[in-house]
Amino acid sequence: MGPHTMTATTRLASTPTSTGFLIAVEGIDGAGKSTQIRALADVLRALGHEVVVSREPTYGQHGKQLRDSAASGRLTAAEEHRLLLLDRREHVDTLIRPALERGAVVVLDRYYFSSMAYQGAAGLDSDVIRRDNEAFAPRPDLLVIFDLPVEEGLKRIAARGERPNAFEATDTLERCRASFLAMLDLPFARRVDATQDADRVGSALVSTVLSELKNAKHLATNRRGSAFS
Ligand code: TYD
Repeated sequence: MGPHTMTATTRLASTPTSTGFLIAVEGIDGAGKSTQIRALADVLRALGHEVVVSREPTYGQHGKQLRDSAASGRLTAAEEHRLLLLDRREHVDTLIRPALERGAVVVLDRYYFSSMAYQGAAGLDSDVIRRDNEAFAPRPDLLVIFDLPVEEGLKRIAARGERPNAFEATDTLERCRASFLAMLDLPFARRVDATQDADRVGSALVSTVLSELKNAKHLATNRRGSAFS
């Protein structure tokens, strides 16, 4: 091994590629994710973190095509998966990765776990969906699943004065919920009971995130320590 190789190896081992913290918040429609994410962002900013909040599908061209399809009649599951991959790739390249590299906390209102649940419910193999996404999309440090019964989610959508869109048929949402619950086996996944009143859901989300952030800091310190020892 020549001196150049040594230098490159040392640099790789001691420089984390990403210093930020990626949180994906998932759950069926009507779980209240968006409101709670805004409140979480305020708490994290008050603690001094740079926080970037974003959502999928994005408002880019591919995301727009997907949202339009929810109103106008659905595409095939394969076509949705293809558009979601294009949308997500752009999101990762232009927003998610740069923010993580700056050290920000990135909070996503839906991520590729929604593809596994929704396009999985529409007939695609969720392991294939996961593999296609993890080929380019960073795995979150924390996956929060907002859980509530489908009936309750649909009631909340109706109370907002909205009509359920094509993604929101009861049987589809039942399959999505089951799929999200199965993800709780992942070591980085945590469940939040979204049937509670909004204040309690909010504090459950904040305490989950703060305890995982604290653990992550320990890990980062240990990793840096061992690189120099
Ligand atoms: P939603 O969070 O409801 O956005 P908005 O409140 O702006 O309408 O997302 C729109 C729908 O897209 C939602 O019903 C779930 C669906 N979806 C998928 O089917 N697959 C995915 O990968 C993502 C991110 C969303």
